[in-house]
Amino acid sequence: MNRTLGVCYYPEHWPQDQWASDAARMVDTGLTWVRIGEFGWSRMEPTPGTFTWDWLDDAIDALGSAGLKIILGTPTATPPRWMLDKYPDMLAVDAQGHPRKFGSRRHYDFSHPGYRTECKRIVQAMGERYGSNPYIAAWQIDNEYDCHDTTLSYSDTARKGFQNWLAQKYQSPDALNRAWGNVFWSMEYDSFDLIDLPNLTVTEPNPAHVLAFRRYSSDQVVAFNKVQADALRHYTDAPLIHNYMGRITAFDHWQVGADLDIASWDSYPIGFLSDRLEGTPEEKQKFLRQGHPDMQAFHHDLYRAVGKGRLWVMEQQPGPVNWAPYNPAPLRGMARLWAWEAFAHGAETVCYFRWRQAPFAQEQMHAGLMRPDNQPAPALQEARQVADEIAALPDVNTGQAHAALIFDYESAWAWDTQPQGADFEMFRLAFATYRALRRAGLNIDILPPDAADLSNYKLVLAPGILKLSDPLRLALTNFKGTALLGPRTDTKTDELGIPVPMAPNLPDTDITIALTESLPPTETIPLQNGGQFRHWFEHLEGSAKTHLSTATGQPAIMGGSHIRYLAGWPDDPTFDQIIQDLCEERNLATQSLPDGLRIRETATHRFIFNYAPEPQDWHGTTIPPAGVHWEPLK
Ligand code: GAL
Repeated sequence: MNRTLGVCYYPEHWPQDQWASDAARMVDTGLTWVRIGEFGWSRMEPTPGTFTWDWLDDAIDALGSAGLKIILGTPTATPPRWMLDKYPDMLAVDAQGHPRKFGSRRHYDFSHPGYRTECKRIVQAMGERYGSNPYIAAWQIDNEYDCHDTTLSYSDTARKGFQNWLAQKYQSPDALNRAWGNVFWSMEYDSFDLIDLPNLTVTEPNPAHVLAFRRYSSDQVVAFNKVQADALRHYTDAPLIHNYMGRITAFDHWQVGADLDIASWDSYPIGFLSDRLEGTPEEKQKFLRQGHPDMQAFHHDLYRAVGKGRLWVMEQQPGPVNWAPYNPAPLRGMARLWAWEAFAHGAETVCYFRWRQAPFAQEQMHAGLMRPDNQPAPALQEARQVADEIAALPDVNTGQAHAALIFDYESAWAWDTQPQGADFEMFRLAFATYRALRRAGLNIDILPPDAADLSNYKLVLAPGILKLSDPLRLALTNFKGTALLGPRTDTKTDELGIPVPMAPNLPDTDITIALTESLPPTETIPLQNGGQFRHWFEHLEGSAKTHLSTATGQPAIMGGSHIRYLAGWPDDPTFDQIIQDLCEERNLATQSLPDGLRIRETATHRFIFNYAPEPQDWHGTTIPPAGVHWEPLK
């Protein structure tokens, strides 16, 4: 497959007489795709029911006739002001009970039936007009679900929807009371109408109540997306895409992805490092202008799976962003490196955000490929270079991974609800595990919690999975490699209660978690191999073999030859050692990589990326900072 580049463009932000020259310059830069439309509702339908398509027709013509393929966005992340006159109660409400008002974007409640109908209406109108337009080669639905924390809403609409959802799920208030354990603190209900949303309670609400609300809220995102996907399918065969975000777990991406054709995501490596990642001040300083060396890779692997093998980057950071606490410029070369890292992980297309920096409104300090005065910004030349390199390079098809990581959104909600220790968070644990695999130089696949086939893998890691699904349990039973589960895997019931017999209930493996402790950052559990656990430690007992012990002789890893349980959260060097030992046992080749160097193998090539701010050596080849090197696989 030919890899391609693209860019996000807002014709409605620029005079019409500039569109053709912008398009020509995009083509000249080597770009194939242009994404438009996703915030344009107030210009498509300035008053209810009056459509003004002329400008969009002209924009599509200008871009398409220049040779660009268009990704048309549905504008439902930005309902126009008049929508509120029609549906004053469509706004989401925060946990404190305050409406999240008009004046920015994403001011809607996913569960609002009236707003869903409006979305269907605008999408049908767009489908009718552009569904068979030859220039429209893909559709993006809405924009970044959950951006600005918009999945959870505590509105009246949400409450009514939640009550109906509970009635369907539990059938009777008695069944719900039993499932949640509402006898505790006299929380029993005798009617579904009495069940409120789990906010503004005196102290913490019942965790089962919160988890139910998280599941309900995720279902609203899935249903909201499906309304648009179903509507568009009547008008077009072009692929339907959503642009997911980094480190967002508020809704089940596996389920949204099931209704779409491609998963794309928006990659802002430098913004993420400063805004969204743990790390020591030294690490943050070291990768200040490059982003964390594993953050992009993790999401490429995750969304490649969410997209059932089809991955795009819909927005790629080109220069400083405007939204992180600090917004440094990327090291020269990073806009190129990030694109190649995406391609090496299977991305078909990488689109830079955005073509020209806007001189007005919220994102005026956000760089583009062009400056507001229409002079090139530094990333333009890097995009040009990538386009030339793609043309010269043989195809980069995804390589086979032998290591897999299971990632589950429900578990993220469960541990948000009941962290038990302030540092226990699903993404953080999964990412720590992923980073260890990647530091070992492995290709990694991320799999859903109901993965039923593990036969491609020698090593499977499943940290923090609330409860093993039946398909996964069966796949583990037949697994011929080594699966390392835990910490905190298979430790809860569906209702976030404690199972009896006690956890984990692993196939053919006699292990019981007798006691669980969480640890403040000042405390560690030293291990017999010199390593240590942090944050979390489970005291294991049972007849399974101990493979690694703590310094005081308690089990740290227990299990048989195929299924093992990890009792704590290893720090990075300890994780490296554990992965090293497991790989050696299974004859899985690892690499010892200099700091900041990362690799990813495609079907034919090994790509080496230097995220370090200084040159690094790769078997005699010096790779400069922000450098990308590729070599054929032997
Ligand atoms: C994304 C969003 C874009 C733009 C961009 C700025 O989250 O999808 O519309 O806001 O961030 O970095």
